[in-house]
Amino acid sequence: MAAPVLPDFPWDRLTPFKNQAGQHPGGIVDLSVGTPVDPTPELVRQALADASDAPGYPQTFGTPPLREAVAAWFARRRNVPDLDPAGVLPTIGSKELVAWLPTLLGLGPGDVVMHPQVAYPTYDVGARLAGATPLAADGTVQVGPGKNAVKLLWLNSPGNPTGRVLGVEHLRKMVAWARSVGAVVASDECYAELGWDGVEVPSILDPEVCGGSHEGLLAVYSTSKQSNLAGYRAAFVAGDPVLVQRILEIRKHAGMIVPWPVQEALRVALGDDEHVAEQRERYRRRREVVRDWLRAEGFKIDYSEAGLYFWATRDEPCWDTVADLAARGVLVTPGDFYGPSGARHVRVALTVSDERVAQLAARAAGPDGSGGSTRGNLR
Ligand SMILES: Cc1ncc(COP(=O)(O)O)c(C=O)c1O
Repeated sequence: MAAPVLPDFPWDRLTPFKNQAGQHPGGIVDLSVGTPVDPTPELVRQALADASDAPGYPQTFGTPPLREAVAAWFARRRNVPDLDPAGVLPTIGSKELVAWLPTLLGLGPGDVVMHPQVAYPTYDVGARLAGATPLAADGTVQVGPGKNAVKLLWLNSPGNPTGRVLGVEHLRKMVAWARSVGAVVASDECYAELGWDGVEVPSILDPEVCGGSHEGLLAVYSTSKQSNLAGYRAAFVAGDPVLVQRILEIRKHAGMIVPWPVQEALRVALGDDEHVAEQRERYRRRREVVRDWLRAEGFKIDYSEAGLYFWATRDEPCWDTVADLAARGVLVTPGDFYGPSGARHVRVALTVSDERVAQLAARAAGPDGSGGSTRGNLR
């Protein structure tokens, strides 16, 4: 079998701009990568430490208390009262699940994996790893007569990079369409706890969306963002127990197991809402500063109702924006990393310390010459 053709890893192209921004006298304000920067909550660290005596192999399926904790979390936080713990499976972060799901579902040549037009790149990678065909499309109309080849439909709400939230009506239509063509729907909801200004973030498993049946549906969730646990790789997939059993069988054979101390940390993290509220509040404060700065810089902000990013444009090629901001010590991500439709946007992350956010605000004022565009009236 030929090795899959994978896209170039795009972040290397940003390195010269990162180096340039780093030379700013006030240091770089790095708003590019969405990696959490705040401490892991003490109660989660304690749970990990308490579980550090782990001589035996862990269960690939996850412990029953963990799967019950996930079901209880869905009932409490996601308006999903009826999740069967048999339809829950921990994953080693959600990125690996995104990358391997088409393979785990047995997809291959001739099968189509549909994902959002502007998207987290791993949906595309996962299709290629399976030998299937990725299709970037937001609407079912774009699929045309090939609709019966679609075997997996990825949704991502709140979206990365756009921060777009899909409402109940939209999700309901996508579920109905996928069911009519026999496709599995996988909904990546890893920013679900980070809705702003009262926006509702429905889950694909919400009875309002799925009509009370989880058949053919999977929700993918991660504690990386809500609990500053990206380093633990603590996530899960949940929904249709039949699909979960299929995925589990292969993962058991392949040794794709979440370490037991991490299973314990995940269980405890999901049982505590307080640390999530605290983290959300930190991001809310930073978000206000970054938003004001973007507006002062003449950006238009699209979507961005939830999640950890602003999707912003000055209606110019994204690399021009990146270059201009890098010259002033600020690093953002070019929108074309997420597909050609992002070519005039940049993604601006909120995963930055309070100290760096204060730097950003100071640069907007710019009386010392550190702020202000290098290009005068271009905007
Ligand atoms: C949309 C989306 N899905 C999945 C992930 C992966 O998260 P993790 O592997 O940390 O669970 C990310 C991380 O940035 C993401 O933005």
